[in-house]
Amino acid sequence: MSKKILLSGIQPSGQMHIGNYFGAMKQFVDLQNEYESYVFIADLHSLTTVQDKKVLSGNIMNVLLDYLAVGLDPQKVTLFKQSDIPEVAELAWIFNCITTMPYLERATSYKDAHMKAKDVTVGLFDYPLLMAADILIQDADVVPVGQDQKQHIEYARDTAEKFNRIWGDTFKIPEPLILETVAIVPGTDGRKMSKSYGNTIPLFASYEEIKKAVMGIVTDSSGDVPTNVFEIHKLFKNEKELAALYEEKKGKYKDLKEALIEDIEAFVKPMREKREQLAADQSALLELLREGGKKAEIRVKEKMKDVREKIGVGLY
Ligand code: ADP
Ligand code: TRP
Repeated sequence: MSKKILLSGIQPSGQMHIGNYFGAMKQFVDLQNEYESYVFIADLHSLTTVQDKKVLSGNIMNVLLDYLAVGLDPQKVTLFKQSDIPEVAELAWIFNCITTMPYLERATSYKDAHMKAKDVTVGLFDYPLLMAADILIQDADVVPVGQDQKQHIEYARDTAEKFNRIWGDTFKIPEPLILETVAIVPGTDGRKMSKSYGNTIPLFASYEEIKKAVMGIVTDSSGDVPTNVFEIHKLFKNEKELAALYEEKKGKYKDLKEALIEDIEAFVKPMREKREQLAADQSALLELLREGGKKAEIRVKEKMKDVREKIGVGLY
């Protein structure tokens, strides 16, 4: 029996943090044997926020390194960048034409941006449909993501159903894969850890950076257990050891933070070293990305041929 298809992506919009790792990337690694996997760098999505050529190119290479350093095996997983498949933008346009404005206005990512910023770009507004195209064009069965992306997967499902209703059965209906225990990793201020909140612990941080971030975790002094520290510590220690530690160090916030620093460092160190080694060979990295892009694009050719025929533009 052939394997089911897994697809997911992350935007190259800044430094990867432990929320990205536990919420999304770790699942890509854990599932790479079980699924036929496609993991990409969502560079076109990140144009909504990154508009500096050098920064974007650098970020793309960084995400590739992050993927490899956390353990994605390019022999098993096709790694590519979104912009190497122009058909994705073509399909997103087709989806634009069957989607109403009020429906997209319900997207929380749009609503958040709309509340905060004065100017929302068309790209940001349309973000869910480009994401739907990423997913549907590859016939994905499952899409591992953190909780904050759940609504986007629902947009992809609805869009597939709508297309199928109008032009006949074409797209699979994808399922989100969200691990409840790590669905929302809290940041140093207790809110969801996010690049945009400046409350992250970077995944490949140096020892000093880890120390700084952990020491900066906001604690409320009302109880024996500093909740924000505990919630992050849970990711790095098993329940039994954690309970023993927090019992022994009751009320000693500084000691607990120091223990967390050591646990994060022990976890991150081997990945950081692997990442440094990989970074030394830029041409090998570029080649890997190029090959992945070719492979992913070949797959979508058939699908787009079918789509073009179905909508009536595929005359030859
Ligand atoms: P950010 O909010 O930092 O910009 P992204 O939107 O780039 O993160 O997210 C990339 C992936 O990581 C997505 O699958 C997202 O759901 C997941 N993710 C991001 N932050 C968290 C978090 N705090 N907890 C769990 N998963 C997260
Ligand atoms: N929106 C996702 C994020 O911010 C990135 C993304 C783009 C994605 N296209 C996707 C994730 C397709 C899964 C599937 O993290």
